[in-house]
Amino acid sequence: MARIFPKLICLLAILTFLIVSGESNHGFSRTLSLKSKQLKREKMSHLHFYFHDIVGGRNPTAIRVAEAPSTKTSATGFGIVTMMDDPLTERPEATSKVVGRAQGIYASASQSEVAFLMTLNFAFMEGKYNGSTLSILGRNTVFSEVREMPVVGGSGLFRFARGYALAKTNWFNITSGDAVVEYNVYVIHY
Ligand SMILES: *[C@@H]1O[C@H](CO)[C@@H](O)[C@H](O)[C@H]1NC(C)=O
Ligand SMILES: *[C@@H]1O[C@H](CO)[C@@H](O)[C@H](O)[C@H]1NC(C)=O
Repeated sequence: MARIFPKLICLLAILTFLIVSGESNHGFSRTLSLKSKQLKREKMSHLHFYFHDIVGGRNPTAIRVAEAPSTKTSATGFGIVTMMDDPLTERPEATSKVVGRAQGIYASASQSEVAFLMTLNFAFMEGKYNGSTLSILGRNTVFSEVREMPVVGGSGLFRFARGYALAKTNWFNITSGDAVVEYNVYVIHY
């Protein structure tokens, strides 16, 4: 007993320290306060831009990279996988200022309507957002008036981002498949 007692006191002291400091250290991880990363108040940003998806012509920005044998008989193009590097502009015109690019994949994921699985990053290239990204993972029923897709994260100025993107087709050429889509993105970040 006499030998255990000092050890118990020592253990208690360590436990108290851990609880009071609110930090635990496991070698590979530690707990930090938000203040230590200068994360103070969250704010909401609204981003507005136009997405140009060019699938036809000599300089497509979106290319088909895979499909299933049954895709040809599918009314919804079920199984088509497209890789995009689409410019994002300030105004609907293709000649307007480029503020970033939408880079990623959209894949036809429904057998009953045209609905894309969207997995992409908005890579911004303008002003203070240059180098920052937002990641989108969502469902895009392209013939609906407005489609909502979750913002699942971000980098740079958009670290810890969460929010949603609203997509509305601005212009669509049914012959070529080219489209301009208006995006309103609402994102909460620090
Ligand atoms: C964005 O950042 C890149 C890399 O740092 C730089 O080359 C480019 O000029 C910047 N663009 C704008 C519009 O500031
Ligand atoms: C739509 O696409 C077709 C085929 O690429 C092209 O011939 C036509 O000029 C386009 N229409 C418009 C309004 O751009």
